[in-house]
Amino acid sequence: MRNRVVAGNWKMNTTPSEGLGFIRALSDKDLKEVRVIIAAPYTHLGLLNQVVSDEIEIAAQNVNAAEKGAYTGEVSISMLKDLGVETVILGHSERRAYYHEDHQQLKDKVDACLSQDMNIIFCCGEPLDVRKSGAEKSYVARQLEESLFHLEEDLDNVIIAYEPIWAIGTGETATPEQAQEMHAYIRSLIEERYGVNVSEDIAILYGGSVKPANAQELFSKEDVDGGLVGGASLDVESFYHIINA
Ligand code: PGA
Repeated sequence: MRNRVVAGNWKMNTTPSEGLGFIRALSDKDLKEVRVIIAAPYTHLGLLNQVVSDEIEIAAQNVNAAEKGAYTGEVSISMLKDLGVETVILGHSERRAYYHEDHQQLKDKVDACLSQDMNIIFCCGEPLDVRKSGAEKSYVARQLEESLFHLEEDLDNVIIAYEPIWAIGTGETATPEQAQEMHAYIRSLIEERYGVNVSEDIAILYGGSVKPANAQELFSKEDVDGGLVGGASLDVESFYHIINA
């Protein structure tokens, strides 16, 4: 069976001390057979890794592709690894929109991460106008082709997160049927490119207003292997409810 994954994306929320309180509370809970990941701000990572239980993984929300050098304000893969961080989110729609991360930059980040054994959660997803025009599949296919499908080998260290932009932080969720349709499509693209063993193994998460009230229905769909959760990952009880779903 594929890995079940619930990843929280805190974005630019919580102070390090608040994050610490959250991780202590979540570490006390029984997390069963779900891979639980918390993507916290850079400032929190070292601190959280000192207290986190074995069942929870602390991840970063971004990283620079360069090894080191004159990149003011940036953080490298080796800096993250030195703090014990082994997973990073790449290509979140907010980074694409506000920081103009394009296909080529993301491709470079993917390559840098995988060459240094960093796991990635690669985000894709269409904006509302694309969904309305019915072109969401070709839009998502292009995101995958341009930044991920150049990889020659299997996708062992890759998780994909499908996050329709119109559902992120809006309270509007894709229906379980819409999520399933896109996830099955993404899986079919992976099968075409990498074969059925890889496509059946890879975890594809849904993101976009996942909440305790809708998680179970979304996660019950065959090709939805868990969620990338923003807002609802900021409250321990909500997030725990989603993990249990
Ligand atoms: P949301 O965010 O759950 O608040 O919609 C999801 C995300 O951006 O990863």
